[in-house]
Amino acid sequence: VLPIGIIGTGKYVPEKILTNADLEKMVETNDEWIVSRTGIRERHIAAPDQATSDLAYEAAIQAIEKAGMTAADLDLIVVATITPDMSFPSTACILQDKLGAKKAAAFDLSAACSGFVYALGAATSMLQMGMYKNALIIGADTLSRITDYTDRNTCVLFGDGAGAVVIGEVGEGRGFKAFDLGAEGAGGELLKLPAGGSRTPASADTLEAKQHFIQMSGREVFKFAVKVMNTATVDVLNKAGMSKDEIDLFIPHQANVRIINSAMERLNLTEDRVMINVQKYANTSAASIPLALVEAVEEGRIKEGDKVVMVGFGGGLTWGASVIVW
Ligand code: ACO
Repeated sequence: VLPIGIIGTGKYVPEKILTNADLEKMVETNDEWIVSRTGIRERHIAAPDQATSDLAYEAAIQAIEKAGMTAADLDLIVVATITPDMSFPSTACILQDKLGAKKAAAFDLSAACSGFVYALGAATSMLQMGMYKNALIIGADTLSRITDYTDRNTCVLFGDGAGAVVIGEVGEGRGFKAFDLGAEGAGGELLKLPAGGSRTPASADTLEAKQHFIQMSGREVFKFAVKVMNTATVDVLNKAGMSKDEIDLFIPHQANVRIINSAMERLNLTEDRVMINVQKYANTSAASIPLALVEAVEEGRIKEGDKVVMVGFGGGLTWGASVIVW
């Protein structure tokens, strides 16, 4: 198969910062609780006139430039998101227009916090079979728009952002080695946004019942997360024919530092081999893994030849893991 890897990266978070101290004024919570239970200290929140495609655009132009390309060169755009600008047109189509990426095919992918790794898997296989030469893959979410800021169980956990990569052919031996994508649809009830779709369209009743906000069974999702972070990593390493000792950098979905710590323990990973930035951005859903990846690149934590594992879990329920040789 053609070696397909990451040839450009970019990220964007909105300017406005919402700290734990700010949240203390909004709901019955405190900095100590939030930090000790989640590791989160602050999160970025989109301006009223910013939607997901705007966050995605900022990350995209950086990634395209770093790849040494222009938007007109793009063959494919995939946006992983659960907070599209609207149901349709897709956020990817809106972005295609903004970028002027006239020849690119464009579609959105919905797999919640696993969306970025799902999108990488889908696009990589399309490039490997020769369907396209390059693709712009973005994880972008504006969770603040679907968060109930009167519910302390959820509002402390989420933030807004976007991360982007351009993928294309790389040198022999480099690039993506394996993907492990999965779902446990039976757990769908544990994490959902109930209304606004064809099952329960928006109405005065759904607004009244706050059914346009994220509903989550935190403890159950926590258990699922701890389990699949470990099993998905072990499975993807097996597929790649690698051992966990070979991981140079582990990039987990940034939802809760306790979930990451438990994965580190089970996988025997020390801090220097794990990327953590949940304290600054909170859980940004599909943007979380690319934000962490791009920040790791910017900090010089990834060098050519490094084996990087990305692993996420989220609504669906879903999980997604990948191994790339940088
Ligand atoms: N401030 C103060 N107290 C709080 C807060 C808060 N912000 N939130 C909850 N509490 C209270 C609860 O009401 C509860 O009180 P009670 O015992 O009197 O009922 C108490 O704190 C403990 O609650 P737990 O649910 O046991 O807390 P836990 O240690 O499990 O932490 C958390 C909760 C942080 C939500 C954790 O379960 C978690 O991180 N779960 C995973 C969530 C996740 O990752 N979701 C995103 C998936 S990604 C996606 O697809 C969007």
